[in-house]
Amino acid sequence: MGGDLYSWIKALHLISVIAWMAGMLYLPRLYVYHAGVAAGSPESEVFKVMERRLLRAIINPAMGATFIFGIWLLVLYGPDIWSQGWWHAKLTFVILMTAAHGFLSRWRKDFEADRNTRSTVFYRVANEVPTVLMIVIVVMVIVKPF
Ligand code: HEM
Repeated sequence: MGGDLYSWIKALHLISVIAWMAGMLYLPRLYVYHAGVAAGSPESEVFKVMERRLLRAIINPAMGATFIFGIWLLVLYGPDIWSQGWWHAKLTFVILMTAAHGFLSRWRKDFEADRNTRSTVFYRVANEVPTVLMIVIVVMVIVKPF
């Protein structure tokens, strides 16, 4: 069996990241369409099921796994990482990505309770936030510009 422990954990980290980002980019897209149908309508009830399953079965576990394997890499990498600018920038944007996750989760509860008042335009803009954060995170950790 090839590859050291660090490479295996990094592979598991990336698999978790891909699943987390897939959900973070898809869920707000569902909100764009959900905000366009009437509360209590059959379409709205279908969106509720899709959003609940996406968040609970994919996004939440994938975020947990990203953190577990990310922190494991952090420990294996050693304390030197804290003197590197790219890591501080990456960590800042990972915290912002986690906050974005929190907002998506809160908005889902509003839809679930038929109390969403935000427009489709609001969710179109919100949909771009995880995309921009992901681009910055990946550039920081791959290019390590500073
Ligand atoms: C709590 C969250 C996270 C922690 C603690 C963490 C930590 C780390 C560490 C220590 C590495 C190894 C760096 C290296 O070997 O050069 C790494 C690699 C990586 N991380 Fe994260 N990370 C987290 C979240 C994320 C997120 C949200 C993304 C993407 C959106 C991401 C993308 C990557 C990528 C692409 C690599 C591979 C870099 C390479 O191959 O050189 N990470 N992560």
